Amino acid sequence: MRITTEQNDIDYVLYSEERIRERIKEIAATLTEEYRDKNPVVVCILKGASFFYVDLCRLLRFPIFMDFISVSSYGASAQSSGVVRIVKDMDKNITDRHVLIVEDIIDSGLTLKYLKELFTSRRPASIKTVCFLDKHECHQCEVAADYCGFSIPNRFVVGYGLDYSDFYRNLPYIGVLKPEVYA
Ligand code: PRP
Repeated sequence: MRITTEQNDIDYVLYSEERIRERIKEIAATLTEEYRDKNPVVVCILKGASFFYVDLCRLLRFPIFMDFISVSSYGASAQSSGVVRIVKDMDKNITDRHVLIVEDIIDSGLTLKYLKELFTSRRPASIKTVCFLDKHECHQCEVAADYCGFSIPNRFVVGYGLDYSDFYRNLPYIGVLKPEVYA
């Protein structure tokens, strides 16, 4: 079965489960300071952000409204298409609400840029972004997360929610994929 070979496709572990846990605790503490009185809508960008979102939310020490939006820009490709498609929209009306967008990775930045524009058009009270990983050198547009887990080099990373062709998401760490897997 494919799942049993997934570990063999990993070149090396970039961030271990323990390191991920530590960093999320730090981010959650920062967010708790900022949002303790704001009752924000915390939005998970499916599917990649799912693991980060759940681990982060359980450490937030303030009331939140959980919501989910599913977008796709990569499909089965290793390259961003630049076209963002909404697969499932949010349930909550965010007008006049504080909104925190939770993303797994900024690569080209096109997805986050699109989402910020989309959410801004819905007139929230405020909008901020927290992104687990940021590939600075790959940005194709002006975009930055307000809070970031790790800034990473230009490597094909999978695990902890991130996929290649929908595999590897449930690896518990962030690993670098062997180039021969996607070349
Ligand atoms: C991935 C990732 C981000 C986006 C980042 O989503 O989860 O949302 O790409 O790439 P960008 O900065 O180049 O736009 P994807 O479209 O692969 O969907 P998924 O989250 O369901 O894997």
